[in-house]
Amino acid sequence: MSNKEVNVLFVCLGNICRSPTAHGVFEKKIKQAGLNHLIKIDSAGTSDWHVGSPPDTRSITEAAKRGYDLSELRGRQAVPEDFHQFDYILAMDKENLNNLKLIAPANGRAQLELFLSYASGFELEEVPDPYSGGQAGFTHVLDMVEDACDGLFTHIKEKHL
Ligand code: 4NP
Repeated sequence: MSNKEVNVLFVCLGNICRSPTAHGVFEKKIKQAGLNHLIKIDSAGTSDWHVGSPPDTRSITEAAKRGYDLSELRGRQAVPEDFHQFDYILAMDKENLNNLKLIAPANGRAQLELFLSYASGFELEEVPDPYSGGQAGFTHVLDMVEDACDGLFTHIKEKHL
């Protein structure tokens, strides 16, 4: 058992749909567990398209239906320094993963993985990009994100806390 802080970064393409959803869901989970002093989280996009923007209103709406508040989050772009600041960098899909590999410094400490590897109820490896689809895609994203956040939380508690 150690009380070292664990830092987690969720990454998608735009940082307005999938990764802010994971950010909001995981934030609530660690606050409810009283672990927000030990687990620090953030989210980012591989693109700079939505830097400074709030999450997509469809993501905010979907998350709010289940009690998650995404409204205060703002977009930022992932940077090489993130690989020194975070223990886990969790990509929503393989394109994000590959783009993160391209900016990863050789001596970074972050463990770079697909976020959905922590899910137990989905066979898929990737959280699909919901941006160009309808509201149902956002519901599906939230279902996947909640499942993967459960697995990630269990993993972090077992491995680090
Ligand atoms: P995200 O979704 O990567 O889950 O935030 C997207 C958001 C915006 C765009 C694409 C995907 N876009 O093309 O602007």
